[in-house]
Amino acid sequence: MKRFFLIIILFQISWLSFSQENLAFIPKPHQIDYHDGFFELNSETVIQADEDSFEAKYLQQIIKNQLGLNLEISTSSKADSKIVFLSKIIEIEKSFKEWYNLSISKNKIIINSTTSQGAFYGVQTLIQLLPLENIRGIKIQCLNITDEPKFQWRGMHLDVSRHFFSKEFIKKYIDYLAIYKMNTFHWHLTDDQGWRIEIKKYPKLTEVGAWRNGSMIGHYTDQTFDNIPYGGFYTQDEIKEIVAYAKERHITIIPEIEMPGHALAALASYPEFSCNGGPFEVGKTWGVLEDVFCPKDETFTFLENILTEVMELFPSEYIHIGGDESPKVRWKSCPHCQKRIKDENLKDEHELQSYFIQRIEKFVNSKGRKIIGWDEILEGGLAPNAAVMSWRGTEGGIAAAKQKHFVVMSPGSHCYFDHYQGEPKNEPIAFGGYTNVEKVYSFNPISKELSTEESKYILGAQANLWTEYINTPEHAEYMLFPRIAALSEVVWGTSNSKEYKEFEKRLISHFEIYDKKGINYSKAIFEVTSKVQPAENGVAFELKSANPNGIKYTTDGSEPNVNSIPYEKPILVTKSQTIKAAYFENGKAKSATIEQPFFITKSTGKEIELVHQPHENYGIGGSFTLVDGMKGNSSKFGRDWLGFWGDDLEATINLGINTTISKIGINTLLSEGSWIYFPKEIKFFTSIDGVNFQIVKSISQNEIITAKGKIIIEFPKRKTKFIKVIAKNNGIIADGKPGAGSKSWLFVDEISVEL
Ligand code: ACM
Ligand code: ZN
Repeated sequence: MKRFFLIIILFQISWLSFSQENLAFIPKPHQIDYHDGFFELNSETVIQADEDSFEAKYLQQIIKNQLGLNLEISTSSKADSKIVFLSKIIEIEKSFKEWYNLSISKNKIIINSTTSQGAFYGVQTLIQLLPLENIRGIKIQCLNITDEPKFQWRGMHLDVSRHFFSKEFIKKYIDYLAIYKMNTFHWHLTDDQGWRIEIKKYPKLTEVGAWRNGSMIGHYTDQTFDNIPYGGFYTQDEIKEIVAYAKERHITIIPEIEMPGHALAALASYPEFSCNGGPFEVGKTWGVLEDVFCPKDETFTFLENILTEVMELFPSEYIHIGGDESPKVRWKSCPHCQKRIKDENLKDEHELQSYFIQRIEKFVNSKGRKIIGWDEILEGGLAPNAAVMSWRGTEGGIAAAKQKHFVVMSPGSHCYFDHYQGEPKNEPIAFGGYTNVEKVYSFNPISKELSTEESKYILGAQANLWTEYINTPEHAEYMLFPRIAALSEVVWGTSNSKEYKEFEKRLISHFEIYDKKGINYSKAIFEVTSKVQPAENGVAFELKSANPNGIKYTTDGSEPNVNSIPYEKPILVTKSQTIKAAYFENGKAKSATIEQPFFITKSTGKEIELVHQPHENYGIGGSFTLVDGMKGNSSKFGRDWLGFWGDDLEATINLGINTTISKIGINTLLSEGSWIYFPKEIKFFTSIDGVNFQIVKSISQNEIITAKGKIIIEFPKRKTKFIKVIAKNNGIIADGKPGAGSKSWLFVDEISVEL
């Protein structure tokens, strides 16, 4: 009861805090004109629509559940108060057919659209105008909204292989997409750890493949397991029900059937389609496993039969065939594979992968459908009609668009919702990385490298929710909310990263909707976030939160409380110390504490140059990241680290004056599951003139492994003005390791220099 009351109060406050010009729509409509006055919704209001209008019934149901009003739906009405659905009134040439116009005047609301999909979006916008409770009458601001999305692929993915989610939760998930006008649900149905879709022709796929004898517990890096049987799958009847449910909500489901890799659950069921015949067990460990489909004729027949059933269930234009992370080890020593390479005149196993995908594409095309695959399908040559889902950054997508292939952008940096969204120590265990709401909001699916013509191939974007570390619906919701709201505005096309704060304000008001609906969501947005900049003799530490006035901090390692130092301006840090900060509202901490240790050394804040630039996804802070006084946190490699994909680190620091030193340190990261490997070697040099460098020490990969990546070299005192550090990238990942055959990531941080 108390909670209920609180929600009402909160809602009232937030309602008042939005001026007419700033109602909390998400995604923000393209055009809003506010008018004076209000439409009063009451039990006499009639919904005027076709009898079979799903949109009218949907609206009727929401009004009933939320406001307790039972509105009549009628095909014509003389009522004084009406919500009218009009369709095909305005003839417009719209590529997406998702356009709508919502006009609210004192006694009439009109939702105008050319399709039922447009009407659905008009309804969703109208719902965002409704109060959450019917307390003192329902007044809706008069206005006129004209709106349509920028991108036609507004997607959200869910992995149901690593953990299984019930039919009921999948429907909820679809509803969550619908309220934010997303239109694509990418359903990742098969992987090493479980096959989740009933295939009538191959019953063992779910009798065997849907069940595993245990799961990883803790993080991949811990390599610990339970032995609790785990599994589940969807029957074809359940899938039909879900597809129909999504269709009503104008959401297309894209099924993903993974091949040639991530196939262990299928191979455990039918080992004859592997290279070595097995036997296999459904995967218990996450990551990239080496047993993949063998491209022999029988395998293609098997996969084609599966895809035939899949295409009968899912009417989508695109069928996702995976294509990612498929190690070539088995193929290298398989006589079938080697014969295929020879017979088809292929250069190597990469071209064999391309052959595999192209052969599947031909089959899918013959059924009038198209394939989409992860960006690895570019390797060895893209299948002629395939669309590409770019996840290893945006490069794959850019390359595909330049080759005139359709693209969905989904880079790990901005679109992986299995990454942390707040300070890791305050969050449930996650894959790694750091993708907060602001980062998601800042994503632009159209890269600057694309011409206007090439940009037309960008269908849109999508975020992915991989569930290695997510095993309950509540946790899935937590990772989804509120980041989905930011994504929805990105793909609707009204996000503006320069106005993030304005979006954040609207977003916070949606938290009341989440509370009301019982949606579990992250409040990390209230956490204090930080930025560092070079400053005289150290660094300046800038803190931010939803409301900058409420930040309190300490510098002595104690927990901040309401009486701690109020934050006013960037904190000058000139000696090693730990700053702890939290955001307070009405005398209470609104978020968990963040904690930042600083290690100030002779290199902190000094000029630094890099020969190779870090990858765009892991280099926001630029070269300064290496001398900012903050050591990278190993569970949060999206921040505080520089990441190089295939390249070496070659950094030169200018200390400004000749300085006596005897120690240099650098940190490097190992996270094999994310293809981050220690460098092959690290070399340290000094120089007085910046031209002639003397080597001080060279450290081998074995020494780096022994030191767990934390290297400090000590040497007799010497005077120097310049310091150079070269860390050699691990290169192509060896067979048997996660990411085998791909370039290694090199992650480095904090070059410290001491006497
Ligand atoms: C992926 O994240 N392996 C597509
Ligand atoms: Zn083979």
